[in-house]
Amino acid sequence: MARALVTGGAGFIGSHLVERLTRRGDDVTVLDDLSTGRRANLNSVEDEKGFCLVEGSVLDAPLVDRLVAECDVVYHLAAAVGVNWVLRHPLRSLETNIQGTQHVLRACAEVDGGRRVLIASTSEVYGKNDKDALAEDDDRVLGSARLSRWFYSSAKAIDEAFALAYWQERQLPVTVVRLFNTVGPRQTGRYGMVVPRFVRWALHGEPLRVYGDGQQSRCFTNVNDVVRAMTALMDTPASVGEIFNIGQPREIRIIDLARRIIELCESSSEVKLVPYHAEEAYGERAVGYEDMRRRVPDASKLFAVTGFRPSIELEQTLREVIDYEMAADS
Ligand SMILES: NC(=O)c1ccc[n+]([C@@H]2O[C@H](COP(=O)([O-])OP(=O)(O)OC[C@H]3O[C@@H](n4cnc5c(N)ncnc54)[C@H](O)[C@@H]3O)[C@@H](O)[C@H]2O)c1
Repeated sequence: MARALVTGGAGFIGSHLVERLTRRGDDVTVLDDLSTGRRANLNSVEDEKGFCLVEGSVLDAPLVDRLVAECDVVYHLAAAVGVNWVLRHPLRSLETNIQGTQHVLRACAEVDGGRRVLIASTSEVYGKNDKDALAEDDDRVLGSARLSRWFYSSAKAIDEAFALAYWQERQLPVTVVRLFNTVGPRQTGRYGMVVPRFVRWALHGEPLRVYGDGQQSRCFTNVNDVVRAMTALMDTPASVGEIFNIGQPREIRIIDLARRIIELCESSSEVKLVPYHAEEAYGERAVGYEDMRRRVPDASKLFAVTGFRPSIELEQTLREVIDYEMAADS
């Protein structure tokens, strides 16, 4: 049994990770400023002995130092998440995603004995690279540095560089995970995440707005597979100093995703194609917005090191999200 600190633990992925750690008997401290996370996401664990939620920021260095010192392992998930959110709040997002991660890494390196730490990064670091299956050593392919569309990708890539530098120079036992599109209950559609938005629209009989021609594809991984991969990596010494993709490689075109969600919801909604530049959510900052045609993970390194491979079918994941959204509506 260990005490784990989970930053961003009141968020979508963090709350599932906290449940998994608690179920296996670990004590868990969550550090979250509740900016996009919710206290209610932790309802199932709040009465567990050994669980504690600290409302605060990873930008508060003395607080991070204290909480890191009180735990054995650290999962750093707190971040301003997603391209859309960062487009709307660029300055605060960059501070959170770069300085926040620096605070966590520095605290882990400087506390007596050091701390095992996992840093959550993103497939966004690959940018526009659309090769068949992206492996960890593949190139980053980015657009103009002037476009705020790339800020999220750039900040997370800096986090990765800091993590690797702490490993190389200070032997900090760090593992970086690059998460591909992760889906499941509690993900909010408010910041442009596609599956919960589509499900809500379908349940309310509203048109499902699909950007562009809808032929762009994505691979969606169930959040339970993602948190299982995280704990498996943290339990495996061979993952130290390494970067791992977490995702499953089955692709679905966004237009087909929309149609499937309409069917599963038995909805009267229709699919509506909307040009990217007309999407009011991005406003003027959308000028030059670039979307990926596809992004497919090669997760063979994860399997080689842990023996674990994400396997939950998209169909099951969609049903879980639909059940969750229906319960939230009632
Ligand atoms: N959801 C995905 O598909 C996806 C894909 C790639 C990477 N990720 C990464 O996974 C991690 C978790 O993302 P998520 O999808 O659960 O998003 P989320 O927004 O639900 O979770 C992020 C959490 O961090 C908290 N937070 C934000 N700023 C903070 C601060 N300064 N101090 C303390 N807490 C703060 C938020 O309140 C929230 O609870 C992030 O690092 C994200 O970049 C997610």
